[in-house]
Amino acid sequence: MVTRSTETNISGEREVGRILVTGASGLLGSRIVKAAKGNYEVIPLHNTKRLHPNSLKLDITRRKETFSLFKNIKPDLTIHTAAETNVDKCETRREVAWKTNVKGTRNVAKACSEISAKIVYISTDYVFKGEKGLYTEEDKPSPINYYGITKLEGENQVRKLCKNYVILRTSVLYGWHSWKQNFATWVIDSLKQKKKISIVQDHFNTPTLADNLAEIIIETVKRNLQGLYHASGNQRISRYEFAQQIAEAFDLNQSLIKPIKTNNMTSWTAKRPKDSSLDTNKIKKLLDIKPLDINEGLKRMKESAHL
Ligand SMILES: NC(=O)c1ccc[n+]([C@@H]2O[C@H](COP(=O)([O-])OP(=O)(O)OC[C@H]3O[C@@H](n4cnc5c(N)ncnc54)[C@H](OP(=O)(O)O)[C@@H]3O)[C@@H](O)[C@H]2O)c1
Repeated sequence: MVTRSTETNISGEREVGRILVTGASGLLGSRIVKAAKGNYEVIPLHNTKRLHPNSLKLDITRRKETFSLFKNIKPDLTIHTAAETNVDKCETRREVAWKTNVKGTRNVAKACSEISAKIVYISTDYVFKGEKGLYTEEDKPSPINYYGITKLEGENQVRKLCKNYVILRTSVLYGWHSWKQNFATWVIDSLKQKKKISIVQDHFNTPTLADNLAEIIIETVKRNLQGLYHASGNQRISRYEFAQQIAEAFDLNQSLIKPIKTNNMTSWTAKRPKDSSLDTNKIKKLLDIKPLDINEGLKRMKESAHL
């Protein structure tokens, strides 16, 4: 049993000392653990793969285990990044997507609520239809694939069950990870192997360096933000242009990258929003740490390549 006294600050709010991070073995979760260390007592959680030596195993779809772990650890705050993030798998294995992204999130949200812990829920630009782009927090979500449906329902669960919450929507995460590829690392690996790659030119997002988002998340915790915010990179860009910038930043051969239209993407099972880029003005006004442009993000990624 873990015990500790709960401290409150002068305004009666609970001071955040202990943070649980779900999905700590994933790209964003691993960066959050790194960004929070030193300032907080961080307890990483994983499901199937341990990345951090002090990580505890928890399958968030298991209700009893989730409640019992939260009651035992008593975090002041949980950053909930765990999700089924494979968009095509969510489309074909709908029961898995619902179980993880909706029921799992409900378990985490309810467990937080029972111990009066704050929750930071990581959501996605894929809650939007993708016809408009540069979506603000005021725009109405209308997901066009099952992943987006489940993540939006996750948001609803958090709103319904928790008084003290932040929902942060982000877009196309990139950065280094020990074993999991993301768009940027896939482009780098493919071009290093001199493979030709076809990338859609009519699909726009606001790609987000995971390290930058992790720092933004920690600042939202420090400043005790509440409610819904868009927290992605600072620049709307097509996948094709993003791939070209990756090649340029890593001194790789741009001519291996061929632009194609979404209609010719035979490998996608799920529909993708054409332009789900996010407007981050709301959060930018409140934080010192700013969302990075693509060249800043890629520069930082390159500099940390051998760390
Ligand atoms: N990736 C993107 O481009 C993107 C874009 C927008 C929003 N987001 C959101 O950002 C968050 C983080 O994404 P990411 O790309 O960093 O994730 P990721 O690398 O795919 O990692 C997913 C994490 O979720 C954990 N997980 C999956 N099922 C679980 C379960 N049943 N119980 C407990 N943990 C479980 C995994 O644990 P194990 O590996 O240990 O099994 C892993 O740590 C997600 O909520 C995602 O929806 C991502």
